[in-house]
Amino acid sequence: MLDLYAQRRQRVMALIGNGTALFASAPLVVMHNDVEHPFRQDSNFYYLTGFNEPQAVAVLAPHHGEHRFILFVRPKDPEKETWSGYRVGVDQAREHYGADQVYSIADLDEHLPKYLETADRLYYHFGHNQVFNQRILHHWQNLLSSYHKRGTGPVAIEDAGLLMQTLRRIKDPAELDNLRRAIAISAQAHNQARAMAAPGRYEYEIQAEMERIFRLEGALGPAYPSIVASGENACILHYIENRRQMQAGDLLLIDAGCAYYYYNADITRTFPVNGRFTAEQRLLYDLVLEAQHRAIAAVQPGAPFNQFHDVATRTLTEGLVELGLLRGEVDTLIEEKQHKVFFMHGTGHFLGLDVHDAGILRNADKSWKPFESGNVVTVEPGLYISPTYEPAAGQPTIDDRWRGIGIRIEDDVLVTPTGPEVLTSAVPKSRAEMED
Ligand code: GLY
Ligand code: MN
Ligand code: MN
Repeated sequence: MLDLYAQRRQRVMALIGNGTALFASAPLVVMHNDVEHPFRQDSNFYYLTGFNEPQAVAVLAPHHGEHRFILFVRPKDPEKETWSGYRVGVDQAREHYGADQVYSIADLDEHLPKYLETADRLYYHFGHNQVFNQRILHHWQNLLSSYHKRGTGPVAIEDAGLLMQTLRRIKDPAELDNLRRAIAISAQAHNQARAMAAPGRYEYEIQAEMERIFRLEGALGPAYPSIVASGENACILHYIENRRQMQAGDLLLIDAGCAYYYYNADITRTFPVNGRFTAEQRLLYDLVLEAQHRAIAAVQPGAPFNQFHDVATRTLTEGLVELGLLRGEVDTLIEEKQHKVFFMHGTGHFLGLDVHDAGILRNADKSWKPFESGNVVTVEPGLYISPTYEPAAGQPTIDDRWRGIGIRIEDDVLVTPTGPEVLTSAVPKSRAEMED
């Protein structure tokens, strides 16, 4: 039986026919001076190889007689390994990563042409590494200039990233296992955070406890900078300072999740720090929760991708009109995007190896692609009433009691043949449980 990565490579090879696809690993990123960030592999590279080192290149050449999967890797180097860690090396890479042929990355220029010259196309994603992009372009141009002598060679470059967006949009069982584990750990951290939050505590204490649980349970760490936003900080969508001391009467918005084997959880909950919503907080919480329930119900196989956002937008706008925070016809308000003053982001995104994961959303005719079984998507409507909110012309002035309230509720949802499965249901969200 083919292993997981071989199955994925097989699917790419079926798509590229007589083409050659080339994937580069992520680079090491400098933190400061000669200190590097922990290495994080490129998601596409990891998806196809499971190989977790920098300075590597993977080539898929289904038309090549002898080698279909070729890896270029860092060679073993005992001295360098003493400083910066173990390297798989050429021999082990062949054995453990299923490559038909493995070379030292130092020999890329020498060996790459033979895997390109019989291809009709090169699939490559032009990434941030301009030097490497130039190197690949140079190979392509060389082959093109001698095409007339061979009668073969890649006549065009197509984006390898687009291929991967198509494949990664649907999660395979191994990916779902990792996502479920990332979510289980993140759920534990959210539940602990809720138990711990109290007036007088600092936001960073909550962050520290959550991230302690992430590591303790074997996750890599946060999937993205944890947002622990109390009071009016919740109105800053990407608030990550997490320094404020919480007060009675505050809501606490926590948007945090961990990465487990590079698979990410993304969960938001909002609850009152002292266990009691104010009247205004309660009304808005109920509204966001209602919008979220309805949006989740719209995540159905076959439903166009925009539908859940439209459902959330409509529910929130209707509610804002009922509460007297917006004035006008709901359709007109939505058309004029007036709801965006309180709900300014999308309702969700695919989730997987990347927090904002791969997946093409629209067809060429601008229509939205439908959800399919195996998609994982976040559903995260919210309302944010800035402390400095100024109504637009024709809109009502609002009482100060509404100001500085920010609420988001975010779950991770798997599309199944029978409808949405909320993967994050271990974190409560009913109003009663938020007031526990
Ligand atoms: N935490 C990032 C997001 O919700 O998209
Ligand atoms: Mn989030
Ligand atoms: Mn999200």
